[in-house]
Amino acid sequence: MSDTPYQDDRGNKDRSITRPGGGTAQPHAPGRTTPAPGTPFLIGDAMTGGYGKGPDILHACTIAVDPGEIAVIVGPNGAGKSTAMKAMFGMLDVRSGHVMLDGEDITDLSPQQRVVKGMGFVPQTQNIFTSMTVEENLEMGAFIRRDDFRDTMAQIYDLFPILKEKRLQPAGELSGGQRQQVAVGRALMTKPKVLMLDEPTAGVSPIVMDELFDRIIEVARTGIPILMVEQNARQALEIADKAYVLVQGANAHTGTGKELLADPEVRRSFLGG
Ligand SMILES: Nc1ncnc2c1ncn2[C@@H]1O[C@H](COP(=O)(O)OP(=O)(O)O)[C@@H](O)[C@H]1O
Ligand SMILES: [Mg+2]
Repeated sequence: MSDTPYQDDRGNKDRSITRPGGGTAQPHAPGRTTPAPGTPFLIGDAMTGGYGKGPDILHACTIAVDPGEIAVIVGPNGAGKSTAMKAMFGMLDVRSGHVMLDGEDITDLSPQQRVVKGMGFVPQTQNIFTSMTVEENLEMGAFIRRDDFRDTMAQIYDLFPILKEKRLQPAGELSGGQRQQVAVGRALMTKPKVLMLDEPTAGVSPIVMDELFDRIIEVARTGIPILMVEQNARQALEIADKAYVLVQGANAHTGTGKELLADPEVRRSFLGG
């Protein structure tokens, strides 16, 4: 782990943003209710399925993430990256395969039930309420909570100071990078045990992309495992503990970010040499 870019002194180490028993625990920490040894914290295992009555888009696709990790999915347009995320979040019929969260089979749960179980998901599009203020967006994120969420909101404002500054502005008036911060912040309001992000840096400048990656690394440092789809493959692999290349709905390459960056086939096919 010491060779991953974010294992340094950067970032917020306040773990209270996550719920007890969540992704903060080490995989085999004593006292934790560990399922079968070696079962990842979140796994979409051999997922096959498609939309409605349409053809299969995913073909025995497997994606997993463990506590302390950033896992990244890359691959060409239309490869099924978003579909794999939707399958894990319960927005797609998984015709065969399973989704397991913290040792529990959640394959048959609705998206909302998965949120209650601790999944935070930021979809690729339409991930904020543009006519609502920044703060109202965050409040909407807390919809499953019955407790006082002001501490969580304060933590999110610490993580994304610009959101505090703009908290009374309609989210639709913000820049692309700031909107993505609102979307991530909204997902964090549920105190997720795992955070799934579909192309969090889509359409932003390279500088804003770097900033967003830094914030995402910071969230990972608080103990929340992160699974994200990225079209900026090279940069994403640089921060990935675990990485998947999907092609036509199937796993094409799997490894650490470093391994895939060094893989000649991955370089030739997906990284422009
Ligand atoms: N809502 C949908 N209904 C039917 N087909 C879809 C839908 N969304 C995506 N697809 C199809 O699924 C395939 C994978 O798409 P997607 O998962 O969005 O790819 P990626 O995120 O890797 O670019 C594509 O062929 C796309 O046309
Ligand atoms: Mg997509």
